[in-house]
Amino acid sequence: MMPTTVPKNIDKYFFNRTKDIKKINLQISSIYEDLPNQLLITGNRGVGKTFLLKKILHDTDKKTLTAYIDISKIYSTNKKVTEEEILKEMLSSIYESLRQKQSVFKNFEDNLKNIIMNIKLHDYEFTDAASIFDIPIPKIKENYKALSKFVMELPQKIIDTSDEIDAFILVFDEFQFIKHVENPEAFFWLFRSYIQDQSNVCYIFTGSVSKSADIIEDINGQRGAFAGRMIQIDIEAFTKEETYKYLNEKAGDIKFTDDGFDRFYKCTRGIPAYINTFCNVLDSGKIYDEEMIKESFMMKMDQIVIMWLYIWGNLNDYEKTIIKILVDEKQLTWNTLLEKTGYSKSTLTKYIDSLNNKAILGYSNDNMYMINDMMLVTWLKHKKETEGQYPL
Ligand SMILES: Nc1ncnc2c1ncn2[C@@H]1O[C@H](COP(=O)(O)OP(=O)(O)OP(=O)(O)O)[C@@H](O)[C@H]1O
Ligand SMILES: [Mg+2]
Repeated sequence: MMPTTVPKNIDKYFFNRTKDIKKINLQISSIYEDLPNQLLITGNRGVGKTFLLKKILHDTDKKTLTAYIDISKIYSTNKKVTEEEILKEMLSSIYESLRQKQSVFKNFEDNLKNIIMNIKLHDYEFTDAASIFDIPIPKIKENYKALSKFVMELPQKIIDTSDEIDAFILVFDEFQFIKHVENPEAFFWLFRSYIQDQSNVCYIFTGSVSKSADIIEDINGQRGAFAGRMIQIDIEAFTKEETYKYLNEKAGDIKFTDDGFDRFYKCTRGIPAYINTFCNVLDSGKIYDEEMIKESFMMKMDQIVIMWLYIWGNLNDYEKTIIKILVDEKQLTWNTLLEKTGYSKSTLTKYIDSLNNKAILGYSNDNMYMINDMMLVTWLKHKKETEGQYPL
């Protein structure tokens, strides 16, 4: 079986990506020179951004602390995302990171634990005036300013107060959910204002967003908080050769004829999420030719596109309507979309933005909107053909 989510045993399943790792590590390494870069990692759904970043965090040396914050987790547990929740999540992943270096932080552990417990239980009211690593802890009572200052300054302060730690890397995954906070622009500016005084902390934002998403504009566009200072790196699918090697290495018992493999690559387009789910519906005893691959693809499509079943189920009717029209028409200008949907201008803008922030829409050089992922298009068409209508 191939993993369909990011596996716990990273080294067992992780394949290649040496160039991407080199590229990203080169940027990260600036934190050891007191010249930190901040990164924005983009790429299509299922291409392997999360796995790649987890691998990079996993391989850092022991003088580097790392924290991984998944903003979508906040959304799914609270049904909303607030600035406070993100800061609290940041704090607990910083704590988790320190906990894993217990030998270094043994003396501080209880203190830190108390602080975090207090934040969770008492609305940020820190009753005892404690301090960690000589960092004074503010008395906070529903005080966003103090909470944000404390959390945002913590990573650099930990480095400054410990000889054992040189650098801190924080990854914010599914960062497009930050769009749901009350004032996303202000929140990005908050980051910017603290980050610029931190010499050894690297912030990496990543998520499933289209390249044209307005959240990228908010954070790194001309008028965004980082105004182009964030280094943007796009992660691509496996090439045909990489796909071939990947299968050989991790799924060697699945055999293809040459045209069978060509068809397999055409279907998956080198996206690891699809390669893995597709492999899981193939048998090890057979040799797959083109026809057999086509047939398995048609028969098992729901299993292969599993990631879209969940995403589709969570879209609203406005979003689904836009997608259905684009599946039927392939690509359309904004004006034609306006006409076909019958929505008001502001409604159309709102839902095009939300689809962009979910990495579903693409936007061509000649101003056409289309669906980003061919697998989604194929699946929806297939559903319509076989069941007479698009999935509800
Ligand atoms: N380098 C890799 N080696 C082996 N498997 C990989 C690799 N990259 C990704 N995968 C597999 O592909 C699937 C998707 O990866 P991942 O979740 O990292 O993608 P993503 O780009 O973060 O997707 P999303 O945009 O939905 O968050 C996972 O099951 C993962 O195990
Ligand atoms: Mg991911």
